[in-house]
Amino acid sequence: MSKEEFKNAVKRIGVLTSGGDAPGMNAAVRAVVRASVYRGIEVIGIRRGWQGLINGDMFPMTTKDVSHIINTGGTILYTARSEEFRTKAGRERAYNNCRLFGLDGIVAIGGDGTFSGALALATEFPVSVVGIPGTIDNDIGCTHYSIGYDTAANTAVEAIDKLRDTMQSHERCSVIEVMGHRAGNLALYVGLATGATAVLIPEEPWEIERDVIDKIRSARIAGRTNFMIVVAEGAHPQDTTELEEAGITEKSGAGVAVGELIQRHLGLSPRVTVLGHVQRGGAPSARDRVTATRMGHYAVNILAEGKTNRIVVHTEGAIHDIDMVEGLAMKNTLNENEKVVVKTMTGVY
Ligand code: F6P
Repeated sequence: MSKEEFKNAVKRIGVLTSGGDAPGMNAAVRAVVRASVYRGIEVIGIRRGWQGLINGDMFPMTTKDVSHIINTGGTILYTARSEEFRTKAGRERAYNNCRLFGLDGIVAIGGDGTFSGALALATEFPVSVVGIPGTIDNDIGCTHYSIGYDTAANTAVEAIDKLRDTMQSHERCSVIEVMGHRAGNLALYVGLATGATAVLIPEEPWEIERDVIDKIRSARIAGRTNFMIVVAEGAHPQDTTELEEAGITEKSGAGVAVGELIQRHLGLSPRVTVLGHVQRGGAPSARDRVTATRMGHYAVNILAEGKTNRIVVHTEGAIHDIDMVEGLAMKNTLNENEKVVVKTMTGVY
């Protein structure tokens, strides 16, 4: 179809990235721009998330602005968290820039917080909004997949495989802290992929003897002499007494806390590695590039069809969209089967 033949419900849309960045966000931005140009819809890039919309930090985007970014991590639109956008006055300033730039739709790439902001804006003002899930935690309840998860998991797996080499050589215990402040999705997945001795997640407060020491002991009795303990940064103990005695606080970090107790219980001198923000960078995997492209294309098409307050989701292997209110009400749940498999894989030697 030629551009003229498309009937678009929107003439000019904005695109932004918000919250923690994720590998693949650039691929999504690229797809939004290219799908829009294909339909004859103009695109305004909004830098620095919702704060950028408040500040008018915006610029027209063409296909030239998104060339050679499908394979790059981070976000060319920058990202930021905005306290001001949480206020009606802030959203009014944002809406005034929607009017000034002639935006009748916005594609917001980010997590739950990003979508809550989009919904508030669209509820208060006549702007159509569509969310695309992008967070390495993959903890958005309404979608099985969020952009960045596969790349972050592979980054962590590659690092843990390297750690395993040296732990095997020195016959040591490695405690690896991965991202996931509230959600254990990444830790479970990475623990499974690396054959971890134990996996600790925020959703299940741990007890050191039951969840770590017994597993190390079983492995040692079975002849293992190196041990890999994967800990989500938000994992925490049922009881903090021992940690308090050791002067370990939440600020020390989940990995350090577990390492300290392993030392106290077994004297193994565990080596603690906090993978941190390295999991947020890097060239996006093929899965993230393709998923992001499909989601960006889908988002533009449903805006063009006149839909609003939608989140693009990936469930049962297909991409579709869900009402934003309904989607935000759905809480992140861990894959129960994955939990059973991890329990089995870390429970026998
Ligand atoms: O994007 C999610 C996330 O990476 C969490 O896993 C992590 O706890 C948080 O962002 C870190 O936020 P910041 O980049 O602001 O330190």
